[in-house]
Amino acid sequence: MNEEKKLTLQDFEQNSKQYTREVQTQSGENITFRPLLHSDLDRLTSFLENLSTDTRRLSTFDSYDKVTATELCNAINKYDKLRFVLESQSKEIVGLIEFTLDIPQNVIDKYITYGLKLNTEYTCRFGPTLADKYQDQGLGSLIFPYVVKIAKLLGRKHIILYGGVFADNTRAIKYYEKHRFRIAGKYNNDDGVENLDMILDI
Ligand SMILES: CC(C)(COP(=O)(O)OP(=O)(O)OC[C@H]1O[C@@H](n2cnc3c(N)ncnc32)[C@H](O)[C@@H]1OP(=O)(O)O)[C@@H](O)C(=O)NCCC(=O)NCCS
Repeated sequence: MNEEKKLTLQDFEQNSKQYTREVQTQSGENITFRPLLHSDLDRLTSFLENLSTDTRRLSTFDSYDKVTATELCNAINKYDKLRFVLESQSKEIVGLIEFTLDIPQNVIDKYITYGLKLNTEYTCRFGPTLADKYQDQGLGSLIFPYVVKIAKLLGRKHIILYGGVFADNTRAIKYYEKHRFRIAGKYNNDDGVENLDMILDI
């Protein structure tokens, strides 16, 4: 992956093979990390439908069916979103990795209350979701170097979490801390649930 030129969403769609990488899990399975494609609709639908109640609480989507899968596929190369998937050897989608380039004003304001002035041109938001049976096996860590690479290719210097992380999601917090994210601040969401905002300088 060439890091010299700042890439656009179009580059990722047009040259998706160039941004595809393989990792091997502890159990020896090869997993492909690649941009989401329009042809992924049915497999993305299955991925969302199969997420457990626990995972749905930790990683929120509008719905867990073809409606949201269609929205995600229709958003390829549009808006401020860049999405990657993890594909198993049997060609199932087993993970969805989201990058969001625009930082909304309410997030900027929240970070100011933490004493941090986000440099929005250089910041992206990141949200990972793995299929239940692929969680807690080191897969998120295996792909993290590529997450950083993609953010750098987009010309970003800081990664923040999309929507923060529930304070009781100890595994995700451990994962982020292991990859050098630091806690920027804490807030309660509309349901009164405590969340952490975390940031990584890359
Ligand atoms: C968060 C997520 C992407 C992490 O990926 P992963 O492949 O499961 O993470 P890894 O296995 O690489 O690392 C997890 C670490 O947490 C540790 N861990 C596991 N369960 C834990 C727990 N209950 N409490 C604290 N640490 C825990 C693991 O031991 C590992 O640390 P180690 O490598 O030092 O042993 C993945 O678990 C996931 O998709 N979870 C469901 C959705 C979610 O929470 N998304 C994030 C929303 S903010």
